[in-house]
Amino acid sequence: MFASVIIPAAGFGERMGATIGKQFLLLNEKPILVHTLERFQSCADIQEIIVATQRSSFPIIEEFKKKYSLSKLKAPVEGGERRQDSIANALKVVDADAEIISVHDAVRPFVHLREITQSIETAKYFGASIVAVRAKDTMKQASTDGRVERTLNRASLWNVQTPQSFQRKILVDAYDFAFRNDIVATDDSYLAEQIGILPIIVEGSYENIKITTPDDLLLAELLAKRFIP
Ligand code: C5P
Repeated sequence: MFASVIIPAAGFGERMGATIGKQFLLLNEKPILVHTLERFQSCADIQEIIVATQRSSFPIIEEFKKKYSLSKLKAPVEGGERRQDSIANALKVVDADAEIISVHDAVRPFVHLREITQSIETAKYFGASIVAVRAKDTMKQASTDGRVERTLNRASLWNVQTPQSFQRKILVDAYDFAFRNDIVATDDSYLAEQIGILPIIVEGSYENIKITTPDDLLLAELLAKRFIP
């Protein structure tokens, strides 16, 4: 089976307060994006890796490919204004043989091989899958002025991560539907839900953090010391 992974890496990292996208910040002397790419390069279930990034970063991606022997990495595609636009651009160049398409944030370098494999296998049989962890905190729903409206049942709540994997047609149809109906989401599975597909949860790990703010970077430095893929 042929599986492709799209890695959106066109964010500017405003919340990190850095001058370069957070995916290019160093972790253990290696860019965060390279750690992420190495996870997918070493996964036997993945045949191609497509990065969406700013055009100005294309030479860096080509350099990573050579320097870190990332043979599965295809030529990068230009990112868009929103994450969703970056993924839509990458979808256009996915190999014609790909049956499963996974999407994984560039800034989640601590994904385990088991999570990638289970995500792909689950999508193969059920159509769509998301990696997620059980909510640790009690969650409240509140009004915009901060008044609690209700307490949600924690037993049924999950924090959603990536990878998210889909049978090719489902992801393509979900993106077409979103484009035609002006639906915007920060989560690909939400778009699949809009065309009636209910993804299956693959239970992941709390290590698979999204490096977004400076405190995430501190945690990432600690995790990097003990992470086993
Ligand atoms: O902004 P957020 O934390 O949701 O970003 C998640 C991922 O999406 C990051 O890897 C970021 O580089 C990517 N992204 C993108 N194109 C954008 C915005 C974010 O590829 N326009």
